[in-house]
Formats: sequence, structure tokens, C-alpha cells
Amino acid sequence: MEFTVIWCFQSLHKKVDLFTIKRINLIIFPVKKQAKNMFTIITGAQFGDEGKGKIVDMMASQYDIVARFQGGDNAGHTVVAEGKTYKLHLIPSGVLFDARLLIGPGTVMNPKILMEEIAMLAENGTVVKPDKLGIDAKTSIIMPYHIALDSLRESKRTVKIGTTNRGIGFAYVDKVGRDEIQMADIADRNRFLKRLEEIAPQKEAAIRELGGDPKIARSEVDNYLEIGKKLKPYVTDVSMEINLALKEGKKVLAEGAQGSHLDIIHGTQKFVTSSSTVAGSACAGLGVGPTKVDKVIGVIKAYITRVGEGPLPTEQKNDVGEHLREKGGEFGTTTGRPRRCGWFDLPLARKSINLNGYTSMALTKLDVLTGLETLKICVRYELAGKIIDYPPELSDELAKYKPVYMELAGWDEELSDLESFTELPGNAREYVKLLEQLMKVDIEYISVGPGRKQTFKK
Ligand code: GDP
Ligand code: IMO
Ligand code: MG
Repeated sequence: MEFTVIWCFQSLHKKVDLFTIKRINLIIFPVKKQAKNMFTIITGAQFGDEGKGKIVDMMASQYDIVARFQGGDNAGHTVVAEGKTYKLHLIPSGVLFDARLLIGPGTVMNPKILMEEIAMLAENGTVVKPDKLGIDAKTSIIMPYHIALDSLRESKRTVKIGTTNRGIGFAYVDKVGRDEIQMADIADRNRFLKRLEEIAPQKEAAIRELGGDPKIARSEVDNYLEIGKKLKPYVTDVSMEINLALKEGKKVLAEGAQGSHLDIIHGTQKFVTSSSTVAGSACAGLGVGPTKVDKVIGVIKAYITRVGEGPLPTEQKNDVGEHLREKGGEFGTTTGRPRRCGWFDLPLARKSINLNGYTSMALTKLDVLTGLETLKICVRYELAGKIIDYPPELSDELAKYKPVYMELAGWDEELSDLESFTELPGNAREYVKLLEQLMKVDIEYISVGPGRKQTFKK
């Protein structure tokens, strides 16, 4: 029970003068405790693969709901727990805890991949039933024609994007174009067939035009209906569930996919994904008002990686890049492609801090820097004598700028078994402190390995 205290000053109509106040009435009456909103958003602060899965898993035990708000199975979030490695593409990374999991209507979902993931989890002893997972009725469904169009279109591009070929872009095209098939459609035979009848002819034409086989537009109908029947009990209203949970004082964690610079609006176009990956998108995608947000955590690597095409000013195509890739296991979780690796890029971090309004950061993969004699942090960019400390808005401009580095001494000690900030070698502590000073945002968590125990608070 909380109490509100109201001080009543007699003679307040007169000029307030503490010495003239004769009497102070103290009125005390109980008020209903206002539940503090606990709606936390986690997003990637770079180009994806920052370790969001690991950080979400680490935090999930403290939350009642973990929800995905954008993207689809282009995401690959790794959770390493009790000796097992889980690569999750659609199911939120809180799956190993008791939290309710939600897939929001801002996502695009391939039901076949979801079924594979549910089966993989069951094989590993985690049963994902409708009381555990909810899928919004309006979630866009990735159809076989989206995947076909994605690869056909990419094959025709002279400058490639490096898409994961999961049909993400074309599923979002249909969402925005109001030609989507939704979760509620595949759960109902008549709705699905009627919708497909309306949509299939234009898909056949589009596929034919790109030189593909138009038959794909009406393929797998029975399979989708079969899966739709199985998923029907999972269908829910995500916005309603989350808002209700928040009113009851429950805690909700929104798990971002991809990274801030892959954002469809603010990223490095055209080398971006097709959804909004920044924190504001969690509110829009889940149907929660921005006034409910209490924390926004940015996951950021101690260096930077990118998979696919597009500018990466600090990329190291040399021994340093090789060190980061090998020691950091920098190969795509979804496609297995080697990730491009480079030094920490402060201008890009500054931009993602603006885009997301981070309240704190989780710094991952600090252990990967062990063994590098000299470490570099890109603090600004330079082009023909022009110095800037914030990325230019256009990608082709960004691609022209050269990084300006500040150098620090590295360390040789392995960090993977360390359990606190104070145990870190001096140079590693300096590196973290410097990043914090430069970013002007608290580094709340430090991760020194893929496992659960390999994280500590700073
Ligand atoms: P996400 O997409 O942001 O969830 O990241 P990914 O799972 O695609 O890629 C991150 C990879 O780094 C995974 O293999 C994680 O297991 C691993 N990882 C996460 N944090 C750390 C860390 O601090 N150190 C090391 N060495 N690996 C980490
Ligand atoms: P997580 O959630 C890293 C990249 C692709 C490509 C571009 C567009 O694991 O961090 P798309 O398939 O969306 O059309 O591809 O975006 N990309 C990612 N890169 N991590 C991801 O997800 C990514 N999802 C998409 O490589 O360059
Ligand atoms: Mg990933």
C-alpha cells in the first residue's frame, strides 16, 4: 500500500511566506499502487548478429512475455544453454524459460520453418504448446512464391543485396500492398483458398516475368492448410495480450531481429532488410504505446560484422578480419555465409543510439579481441580532408569515407572464464570504459562467451 501526502497550507491565498504559515494540515489517504510499466525493448545496434539471442535468453527469466515484433526467419538467434546450441529463427529466444512467447503481427512468418523449430525444440525437451506460444492472427505468411520471387529478383540485380532468400522482402511488399495472406487465413480452408484465388494470378505473372516457374504460385496449398490446422490453437491477439499483461504489472520483453543499420527506413539502403529494426518498431509491431517503454537495450559487439552486401567502413580483409571471423565464429546463423568483420565503428554506433534511444548497452564478444596486439576504434570518418563523426545519410557516400582510428594496446589473456568486470585484464577494462565514454551510454552487460554464465554486469 502506498500513501499520498498532501500538504495543505492555510492562507495560501496570501503571499506564501513560510514564517506567516500558522498551521499545516497533513492529509493522508491510501491510493491504489500504480503498476510500473515494464516493457523492455532489445535491438541490435549494428548489422545484426550482435548476440541478441544470448542477451534475450539471459534476461528472459525475469520477464513474463518475450515477443518478436518484426522480421522473419532471416533472423538467426543463437542460444547456448546447458551444453546445447539452439538456432532460433522465429520463436523468441526466451523459449527455454517459462515466459509466454508471442509472434507479433509486424513479423512475416514461414509456417514450415516454425513447425521445424517447434519439432527441434521438442526433440530437445522443450514442448511449445499454445499455452506457451501465441501467433497474432494478422501475422503475414511467407508463401512459396515469396521465396521464389526473392531469389529470382536477386539473381536479376546487377548490384546484389545479399538477401537470405527467405522471401522476407516480397512478404513485406504484400503486407504493404494489402495482398498478404495472414495467419488467420491459413487456419481456415475457405478463407485461404479464396484469398489465394485472388492473389495467385498476379504472382504467376510476376514469376513468369522474372523467368521462373509460375506453378509455384499455387504450390503447397495442402501443406499450408495442414500446418494452419495445427497452428490454429496458437492464434491470438498479441497487442491485447501484451497490454493486458502490462496492466497486470507483468513484464514484457520485445526481441528485435537484424540490426539498426539494416532498418528499411534508416539503414544503409539498398543493403537493408525489409522491416523496421529499430526500437520504435517494437511499439508499432506489437501494438503497444511508446509511453509503456521502460528500457531500450542495444546489443553491440566489441567489433563489427556484416553479412551480405553494403558498406562496412572498418572492414578488415586481412589477418585481423580473419582473427575476428575464426575466434568469433563469424559465420551466418541462417545461411552459413562468412561474415565480414571489422573494427568497432563509433559513428555507426552514434547513429544507432539516436535511432533507438538506448538506455543501456550489452557489449558482446569482448573475448574475441584476445590475442590482437593493437586494437583500433573508428572514431570518425575522413574523405578528401573532410572529417565527420556521424555517418552520412546515403550508403554510397558512406562507402566512400575512410575510417579514422584511435589505437589501444590489446591483451593476451583469455576472458571466457572471467565472471566480473574487475577480473578483466587492465587493457580490456580500458577498452570497455573508453567505448562507454565515447558512446555516452552505459554498458550494462559484458559478454565474454556464448554461454549463459559468460556474462556479467559492469
Ligand atoms: P543474433 O542474431 O544477434 O542473436 O546473433 P547470432 O546468434 O546470429 O550470432 C552471435 C554468435 O555469437 C552466436 O554464435 C553466439 O552464440 C555467439 N556469442 C554471443 N555472445 C558471445 C560472446 O560474448 N563471445 C563469443 N565468443 N560468442 C558469443
Ligand atoms: P539476425 O536477427 C545479419 C541481411 C542479409 C542481407 C540483408 C537483406 O540474426 O541479426 P533479407 O533476407 O532480410 O532480405 O536480407 O539483410 N540480414 C541479416 N544480417 N543478421 C540478420 O538477422 C539478418 N537478417 C537479414 O544478409 O544483407
Ligand atoms: Mg543472427
